[in-house]
Amino acid sequence: MSIKLGVNIDHVATLRQARREVEPDPLAAARVCKTAGADLIVTHLRHDRRHIQEADLSRLRKGGKFQLHLEMAASAEMVAIASRLHPDSVCIVPESQDEVTTRGGLDLKKTDPAKSLEKAISRLRRAGMEVSLFIDPEAAGVRLAKNLGADTVELCTSQYARTLGRHRQEFELERLELAGYLAHELRLGLHAGHGLDYHNVAAVARIPHVACLNIGFSIISRALFTGLRAAVGDMKKIIAGAG
Ligand code: PXP
Repeated sequence: MSIKLGVNIDHVATLRQARREVEPDPLAAARVCKTAGADLIVTHLRHDRRHIQEADLSRLRKGGKFQLHLEMAASAEMVAIASRLHPDSVCIVPESQDEVTTRGGLDLKKTDPAKSLEKAISRLRRAGMEVSLFIDPEAAGVRLAKNLGADTVELCTSQYARTLGRHRQEFELERLELAGYLAHELRLGLHAGHGLDYHNVAAVARIPHVACLNIGFSIISRALFTGLRAAVGDMKKIIAGAG
């Protein structure tokens, strides 16, 4: 089965918010991404609303036939918004105010957050959404994700993406691969993402059982020079040709 590409359009909204204008419009961007081959449209609604707004999510939900994938913290506010706007799937991510982007996976070993996480997962799943947890590529996290009732794990690839040197990269890829095998064995869906670009994505696309790659920053950055349609199309081609 071919690997799906989820295109994160947050940074279209980042540009719009820089001027508090109506353009560039994330809905228009989502339409171009879909035409160019994006399988999912991905957005992260942050507590500080620095890019995507609730109104964008409503418009994306109503204005196009997208597979809409929402990244969000497991707060009561976000669970209520997801339950109302009903994306097709949700990825629960850690979020802190001062970060410029998600710093890594959820720490599922902390018991208290795990309890509220379990409730959030169960509420979202009961409302009909597929729930993934963004985790670092470690066996313990994969097992905990299963125990908490998630459908899928999204393995954080930022450590791999940041690593320089062939041996270290191979080590990081092996961590992803091992976590992926375990997820598959536990019958969890397997996604990966964060920090992936046109140079480093192929090796991740070759990891067995990966069903979906979620990519934002590199695609939107390239789009400034090539246009969005070509940027998405180029990424699709690399992923399709990786196997
Ligand atoms: N996956 C998750 C869970 C994320 O939080 C993000 C960033 O919003 C991405 C994938 C995409 O990361 P990048 O923008 O570095 O491609």
